[in-house]
Amino acid sequence: MATPMPLSGLQPADPASMFAADVAGGLAHRPKRIPSKYFYDARGSALFEDICAQPEYYLTRTELSILARHAPDIAARVGARAMVVEYGSGSGLKTRRLLAALEEPVAYVPVEISPAALEATTAALAEEFPSLELLPLCADFTTRLALPEPSRPAAHRLVFFPGSTLGNFDLADAARLLAGMRADMGTGGMAVVGIDLVKDPALLEAAYNDAAGVTAAFTLNLLERINRELEGNFDLRLFEHRARYNPLAQRIETHIVSLADQLVRVAGTPVRFEEGEAMLVEYSYKYTLAGFSRMAAAAGLRLAEAFTDADGRFAVVLLERGQG
Ligand code: AVI
Repeated sequence: MATPMPLSGLQPADPASMFAADVAGGLAHRPKRIPSKYFYDARGSALFEDICAQPEYYLTRTELSILARHAPDIAARVGARAMVVEYGSGSGLKTRRLLAALEEPVAYVPVEISPAALEATTAALAEEFPSLELLPLCADFTTRLALPEPSRPAAHRLVFFPGSTLGNFDLADAARLLAGMRADMGTGGMAVVGIDLVKDPALLEAAYNDAAGVTAAFTLNLLERINRELEGNFDLRLFEHRARYNPLAQRIETHIVSLADQLVRVAGTPVRFEEGEAMLVEYSYKYTLAGFSRMAAAAGLRLAEAFTDADGRFAVVLLERGQG
């Protein structure tokens, strides 16, 4: 449930009014829900960095180790003079590993809605890759993109979408995103996508319920953000984080659960919560390679290669346009 509205739906252009509209709509919905994209204010982004360093959250370090090991294989498949388009503001070390392995990449286009995050990414990369043309694009990567043309012609485009962020979109939105990726990669292009794999539910639930409580703080920061930005009065002591694996749907479902019958106000509107009521705030889908391959095929993409770690926890997959 990354977006409660259709991706193509009309949304207010201004981020603050979009947040207010999505929160109002999500609190009025039954059951209540708020899109996970609103986790990432400054504090939420910092907490997410902390999550990535928790011993239980295997995703980031596993993906990094796959990239470290297979970046040369990926580079060989992609070929020289690619223009790299990353969905999101640039994922630091992962982006660097990919760019450093590629043969003469001509340009790098991070696609990100937050101008501040975009600036930070480009400033850091400019120093490290002085001959790479940086073309930051301030846009929502779930919408149709007008990609810039690099000054040196690119042989083809490579879309980079690491981190299993695709898993935060419900299946319909993920399918739309893959179709958009197919358009963005263009003829002869490819995509490199990080996906988390189905595994022992105990390992999955541990990853989303770390012992240090960082994920719980990350989840509940959404209520603090509403308090700060939308004149909310959530009492954080009266809510808790709950993340459980749903094996049928193959996803972690994260809820914020009310610990009491209570009345909260958000932007002047009263909102009632019952004791035990759970508000959905995030899905984190897990895939099998066969299931992901079917989903990609439905979007006109072929799974050209999948690189996994020795324990089969995570996969970095290479996608190209399928026939027809
Ligand atoms: C960004 N995204 C892939 C993370 C995930 O695993 O779903 C966000 C996250 N939520 C809780 N922990 C991490």
